[in-house]
Order: sequence, then C-alpha cells, then structure tokens
Amino acid sequence: MRKTETMNADAHLNLETLNHAALKRAMGCFATGIAVVTTQYEGGDFGMTCNSFNTVSLDPPMVLWSVQKTASSHAAFTRSSGYSVSLLAADQRDIAMHFTRGTPAERFSGVATHRLDSGRIVVDGAVAWFDCALDNVVPAGDHDVLIGRVLDFASNDRPALGYLRGQFMELGA
Ligand SMILES: Cc1cc2nc3c(=O)[nH]c(=O)nc-3n(C[C@H](O)[C@H](O)[C@H](O)COP(=O)(O)O)c2cc1C
Repeated sequence: MRKTETMNADAHLNLETLNHAALKRAMGCFATGIAVVTTQYEGGDFGMTCNSFNTVSLDPPMVLWSVQKTASSHAAFTRSSGYSVSLLAADQRDIAMHFTRGTPAERFSGVATHRLDSGRIVVDGAVAWFDCALDNVVPAGDHDVLIGRVLDFASNDRPALGYLRGQFMELGA
C-alpha cells in the first residue's frame, strides 16, 4: 500500500515537471516487438522501423501504428492507400537500425525483401507480415495513428525481435 502511494506520487511529479526523459523511460517499460513498416507512394518505396505497432480487431482484422509528424516519410504513409508491416526476427537487429536512417532508396538497398501483389514491400525472414489498407488516420499529439485493415498476412514460428527499455532482445527462443 505504502509502496503504491509512493510510486503514484513519483509519476505525478514527473508529469508536472514535464520531464521527457523520465516519461520516455516509463513508456519504454512496455515491451514490444519491432516492425519495419513500408508503403508505396507516387511511384516510390518508403520504409521505417517502428515499435508502436499493435493489433486492434480480429473481425474485421485491424492493426495500428503511429508515425511521428516530423518523419520525412510522414506524407507518404498518411496519403498512400495502405502500408505493410514486417515483424522482425531475433536475428534482424541490423535491419531494425538500417530502417531508421538514410534516404528511402538506401533503406531498401542490401536488404532481402519481396514485393506483395499490392505493390508494397515486406522484409524476407520476418516472423510475420501484414498487408493493410489505410482505414483511418487519427491525429494524436506529435504522432498520427494509422489504423489499417488487414488484406493479407503470413507468419512462422521463428524467435522474434523484442524491445524493452531501449534494448533489443530475443523473444520466444
Ligand atoms: C526501436 C525504434 C522504434 C521506433 N518506433 C517508431 C514509431 O513507432 N514511429 C515513428 O514514427 N518512428 C519510430 N522510430 C523512429 C524511426 O524509425 C526513425 O526516426 C525514422 O525512420 C527516421 O525517419 P526520417 O529520417 O524519415 O524522418 C523508431 C526507431 C527505433 C530505433
């Protein structure tokens, strides 16, 4: 009881002082997988690493992730007709970092991928992928939430790449 009260008081204090480092640290305590999201827009391919992916609905099948409003590929993701999500495998840490930098073309260079019927690209060796039509864009602070309807998907049983407190880790080995 006493411990809970202390924790709540600490969290309250952090929000009051707008301590972004502390907020990021607290949010980073939520363990996630790591995805590479891609889209095709005006004839070009765009991709980035994200850990904001989550599942939303089974019927109809829907997922979401959120894109920073300042991301260079923000317009491509919010204006295109859809996106694909590749959930990375435990041995794909390099790919996770690769898709955080460089031009759109550089990000796809040297990475084994294939193109789906929709025209969107997925990463070979991913533990699962989802191809989605963009259903709704919900503005939320410094991000936009991209809700997608799943058109096609696949998965396998390989260990997945996880992310917790700023560290990559192997999940499900
Ligand atoms: C582990 C990890 C998770 C990330 N998750 C997201 C995310 O969910 N949404 C997002 O917009 N950027 C996320 N990023 C940052 C983008 O990958 C990176 O800033 C972006 O590719 C750079 O975009 P730009 O050069 O196109 O602006 C993440 C980065 C890392 C390393």
